[in-house]
Amino acid sequence: MPRPAIDLFHETFGAPPRAAASAPGRVNLIGEHTDYNGGPVLPIAIAQRTTAAIGPGVAGDAGVLEAVSTRYQKVVRVKWQEELPQGWAAYIAGVLRELWALEVVPPNGSVRVAVASDVPVGAGLSSSAALAVAAAKALAPSLRPRQIAGVAFRAEHDHVGVRCGVMDQTISALGKRDHALLFECASLEATQIPFGARLLLVDTGKRHDLSGGGLNERRAECEDAVKRLKVDLPELVWLASWPAEWLPRLKRALREPLRSRAVHVVSETARARFAAQLLQQGKLKQFGRLLYESHESCRRLYDCSSAELDTVVAAAKRAGALGARLTGAGWGGAAIVLVSKSDKKTAPAIQRAFERAYGRSAPISEVKASAGAHTERL
Ligand code: GLA
Repeated sequence: MPRPAIDLFHETFGAPPRAAASAPGRVNLIGEHTDYNGGPVLPIAIAQRTTAAIGPGVAGDAGVLEAVSTRYQKVVRVKWQEELPQGWAAYIAGVLRELWALEVVPPNGSVRVAVASDVPVGAGLSSSAALAVAAAKALAPSLRPRQIAGVAFRAEHDHVGVRCGVMDQTISALGKRDHALLFECASLEATQIPFGARLLLVDTGKRHDLSGGGLNERRAECEDAVKRLKVDLPELVWLASWPAEWLPRLKRALREPLRSRAVHVVSETARARFAAQLLQQGKLKQFGRLLYESHESCRRLYDCSSAELDTVVAAAKRAGALGARLTGAGWGGAAIVLVSKSDKKTAPAIQRAFERAYGRSAPISEVKASAGAHTERL
């Protein structure tokens, strides 16, 4: 739905935009907190998208970014090379700086951007990656999808300062309809795997903000673990490369909480690769069991779940769903639930359990693997 961004541009700046592009949010099927550890992830792009409509700024207004969104009506105005605005517009300033580094945007370029999105913010569905990828695609439509992902990743990681991995921007740029993407974050090998299963998304309504907190702390713990493990294995670069059959040795080498964090990363790496094989073979039941295992590992070892997420996963399991787990960074946000095509019981059972526990409902929707970023017709 590119219209709202295009209309907002016109209304705000009094002229039509020059170009527009959109990019999706994502859910991750399995492979959580593995990306920044050099492991595999298996996300799908979702139907909800962010659209960025862009046009040139006023002549003589050198190096100025003016940005507006349907969510926050106020126009943000900054010199994008010199200052990073607070909040959502920082992602666009970051994208501009990265495009400048690639010599796609001139250093004194002035840009106007209008954004509209139906990706919920803070729900663990990568609204920030959708924003950065959409802006990059609109500003530099001729870059290849992997370049777009790189620009958006560095905008978030280097400029906004969220120490995320590459998963969200990669799936938002490379996503393919009816496919999941197996992405190996160390070798950067990408494999599209057909995905037509029925997947529910349960939004716990508990919001998280990644720019402060959990993710950065976990990442520092993983780096610390690698430093210590290098004593045993000097060649170790990525935590995810630690051999799974050496888990006892890893446990001996590390103290808590690093031990639990590292066991999660190494076992989740093996689990995600196995899950991708099962998915490729259409073995959904076994695949689903790995989703439950992954949730348990996130909850117990990586300590990134929340009571609400655990309630949803436990209710799904009791109702006989094939699999369920938190998706994305965790600490709130959304859970995914894999169900058979004929399943009618699971969604109402989750709803009942959630209402009983929290006195409110948790929106449940169906997820369809959707297309990655593309330009939009004006
Ligand atoms: C966030 C980050 C991703 C990834 C997930 C956890 O969504 O942005 O890069 O690390 O958390 O798997």
